[in-house]
Amino acid sequence: MAEFTTPPMRILCEAYGAQRTYTEMVNAEGICRQSPKTLFLLETFPEERHIWAHLYGHDPERLAEAARITTDLGRFEGIDLNAGCPVPRITAQGAGSALLKDLPRMEAIVRAVAKATSLPVSIKTRLGPNPQLPVWREILERLADAGAVSITFHARYTSQGHAGMVHLETLREIVEASPLPIYGNGSVIDEASAQAMAATGVKAILIARAALENPGIFSFTKPEVAPLAMRHLELELRYRQRAQAFSRISPEEATVLTFRRHLFRYFKGLPGANTLRGNLMNLHTMDDLYRAIAGFTTA
Ligand SMILES: Cc1cc2nc3c(=O)[nH]c(=O)nc-3n(C[C@H](O)[C@H](O)[C@H](O)COP(=O)(O)O)c2cc1C
Repeated sequence: MAEFTTPPMRILCEAYGAQRTYTEMVNAEGICRQSPKTLFLLETFPEERHIWAHLYGHDPERLAEAARITTDLGRFEGIDLNAGCPVPRITAQGAGSALLKDLPRMEAIVRAVAKATSLPVSIKTRLGPNPQLPVWREILERLADAGAVSITFHARYTSQGHAGMVHLETLREIVEASPLPIYGNGSVIDEASAQAMAATGVKAILIARAALENPGIFSFTKPEVAPLAMRHLELELRYRQRAQAFSRISPEEATVLTFRRHLFRYFKGLPGANTLRGNLMNLHTMDDLYRAIAGFTTA
């Protein structure tokens, strides 16, 4: 998840049972141009284990070059390609879910990347641009021998964004029709929704938003939130210290700004969470954050 699945988040998810994590989406052009800010998105921490790089772009050759560079970093178990992001800034470049309207290009990208890297390659996409255009069958046909080892379907159409019905029946049809392993994604938030998705026959389940509130979702546990938030905070500071070279603000300031986004999610639903939400903009220093977390420890 863009701006969220940085090393701190990924470490916590792995610690609580995620068998694989993905980087946030990284621009292939930025990698090819060796942009320090883009390359920073491919930083990992030594304690990370099973991590795949998640790349986006429009041009098969540039994505292939980006995959080569990413492979040479020696940090990743695989390369995952984005063909599902509905954000206009991304689709305007012909990337993300724009590829659902240009399936020959989607196929060319997978072929070029699979040829360029020794790592396994996968792709994450959707059912189609909208319910009137369910292009998943053509995706399966085109990608069957393109070199991908699996396809992840976020079981929604682009027109749905991240909301509305998850089409599990269609996911089941996809699994039955696909020669390749299918991974499922979309609104898995607990054991019941995970089981409903598993019943479609998918080989794996990807969880996004629920992990932001509770990285324990991967083992259906609910860790105590104050120690979890404190651990995340320490990891975040370590991460922001690495970014110092090209950041105009101090690691502490960067940590505070980033962490505000995580803090409320962790404490959501607990007594005092709404007060915290109203107060987030008044948290300016690391001490403010420590105090806010400690407030919940003693609550
Ligand atoms: C803040 C945010 C950032 C996201 N960034 C990405 C991304 O970089 N790449 C991607 O494939 N999907 C991205 N997604 C979509 C999720 O990976 C996922 O497909 C979607 O949220 C549905 O799964 P969920 O219900 O488990 O959250 C993002 C979603 C959110 C909310």
